[in-house]
Amino acid sequence: MNNNNDIPSYIESLKQKLHHHNYRYHVLNDPEISDSEYDKMMQELISLESSNPELLTQDSPSARVGAPPLAKFENVIHSIPMLSLDNAFSDEDIFEFEKRIKKILNTCDKILYTVEPKIDGLAVELTYENGKLLKGSTRGDGLRGELITENIKTISNVPIILQGLSMEIPSYIEVRGEVYIGKDEFKTLNNIRLQEGQPLFANPRNAASGSLRQLDSRITAKRPLKIFFYNISQINDISLESHSESLILLEKLGFTINPIIKSKVYIEDVLKYYRELSEVRDNLPYEIDGIVIKVDNLNFQKDLGTTSKSPRWAIAYKFKAIQETTKLLNIEVQVGRTGVLTPVAHLEPVNIAGVIVSRATLHNEDEIRRKDIKIGDFVLVQRAGDVIPEVVKVIESKRTGEEKNFEMPRVCPVCSSSVFKEEGEAHARCININCSAQIKERIRHFASKGAFDIDGLGEKLVEQLVDKKIISSSADIFNLKTETLKELERMGEKSAQNLIDAIEKSKMITLNRFLYALGIRHIGEHIAKILSNHFKKLDNILNSTQETFQTIYGIGSIVGDSIKNFLKSDENQKEIKRILNSGVQIIEENSHELPKLLTGKIFVLTGSLNSISRSQAKKSIEDLGGKVSGSVSRNTDYVVLGDSPGSKLDRAKDLGIKIIDEEEFKKIIETRI
Ligand code: IVH
Repeated sequence: MNNNNDIPSYIESLKQKLHHHNYRYHVLNDPEISDSEYDKMMQELISLESSNPELLTQDSPSARVGAPPLAKFENVIHSIPMLSLDNAFSDEDIFEFEKRIKKILNTCDKILYTVEPKIDGLAVELTYENGKLLKGSTRGDGLRGELITENIKTISNVPIILQGLSMEIPSYIEVRGEVYIGKDEFKTLNNIRLQEGQPLFANPRNAASGSLRQLDSRITAKRPLKIFFYNISQINDISLESHSESLILLEKLGFTINPIIKSKVYIEDVLKYYRELSEVRDNLPYEIDGIVIKVDNLNFQKDLGTTSKSPRWAIAYKFKAIQETTKLLNIEVQVGRTGVLTPVAHLEPVNIAGVIVSRATLHNEDEIRRKDIKIGDFVLVQRAGDVIPEVVKVIESKRTGEEKNFEMPRVCPVCSSSVFKEEGEAHARCININCSAQIKERIRHFASKGAFDIDGLGEKLVEQLVDKKIISSSADIFNLKTETLKELERMGEKSAQNLIDAIEKSKMITLNRFLYALGIRHIGEHIAKILSNHFKKLDNILNSTQETFQTIYGIGSIVGDSIKNFLKSDENQKEIKRILNSGVQIIEENSHELPKLLTGKIFVLTGSLNSISRSQAKKSIEDLGGKVSGSVSRNTDYVVLGDSPGSKLDRAKDLGIKIIDEEEFKKIIETRI
């Protein structure tokens, strides 16, 4: 670019390229250029726009980094109210819903529905004129929301301009969707806030809401917000007959649609979908709190109309409550692997969404005071995903006056050593690292599912082994002999041999699991994955400096300090050496040792997968040396069959290619994980 007259057209071409690459990366999950090339292009655009402000337009991709802060949000009246949904809590409620529909439509015919996950985020409305994003607003009270256009533009998968040829793009379209933050991104965000000493968000929905409603959209731009679109509320030029058709159009225009939506299903399959999703919900990368059932035919929707609060053509079928009330019988203090004293509530057993819960964590003394929990109280208990159940609050109206205050012990309840509470720390700790409770917990953690995953080495067995002084550290596990094991309680020759085999099998381990297994403070499974992705080899971590840790996204000084402190101890260094000397082999990411189990194998994915995204599936195959192809040919080795598969399935059958379902596929890729 050597002529000033070229600047407008150069800026225009940069804008188009950035829109295109953003779409490839954030909507299709199929980038064509590297992140650094994208960043470079964006920086170039930003700098050209700042030296030529007259050329800055509303549809510029530079808006993704945010704009100067507003004094306040303007109000927007929604042209069509943003209603909420009626809730169903049982299959009967769904049968009732269908009965009502049939009555109003005066039909006995079966009704076709589209079923979608109910994303736990916040609803927004976006307006596009001639393919350009004009306005974005929150739902507010349903009639009136807040104008948050600049914040909306920072969401990576929001189209600032629509995809398609200009003749295919409606002159006006209003779309609705749910803004959310994924579970992993939420953990990283809270970890960063912890490092920065900022208050933590209670859950991903609060984090999404707090992030979106920032007067300074440059803050919003830094938050990992995403959106699923689920509705066209108004459209010009194009006539649509069904909700499923509108989803297809949305996708064509560049809007992200949830991948596990099922279209055109009858009521029996709606109920099946509900059960399937309640089982896989914990594995989804974002939170859902139920399913949304929508009558597919838009004429039927019109005939059914709305009440003042909700449409008659849709209903939310909520998942079973994950909170229940029960009595707190006692409080026991447990000592964790890092010496932390955790008060644990013993509860009258209660069924929470299909799981019997009889214990819940009370976190620490301050939490007990803050929530004013007493022994004998009735409490609200919550179970969420894979986390330990916790006491949410006391039901004060059920107090009798008989409840008793709880006092934290001043010495370790297991080894009677002193207890120490660091300045600014919420937890008290037992300072004796040879405390038998700490030893047991460290070993139990080492053998647990996310770590060495040693089948058969459960809590009770670890207890016996430590109490009988057969082992006193994790490395000792690898010296265990069948002869010793078979003499223990509830152990025979066979189970002793099984355990030895399981220990042997556990010796091949990925770096992230190994790191997690060491039980270093603040290194949970998520942080361990970030570290292993970054460092690739154990040696790189052992030799890195404190400063290196702070440059990694999602890791901060607390994690860095904790690793360095751990490695400072001779005992810990010795323990790592002993583990490695006992034949443990770390499979290091991208290193030559990574067994490329799928080298030369060609996969084709068809239909939607439930528990893994397409991009994750592709990455896992490629990490193992395999390839993913878009079409089935004689060279294809496996066709992975998702829900509602396309014509690829027929072709695979014709060619006699091996067809595997999602479960089999996961077994193949998890061999490594
Ligand atoms: S459709 C007329 N579809 O649930 C209602 N809503 O309680 C149109 N939500 O405010 C909403 N996922 O924030 C619809 N797939 C989905 C949804 C969904 C989440 C939220 C939305 C709405 C609330 C209703």
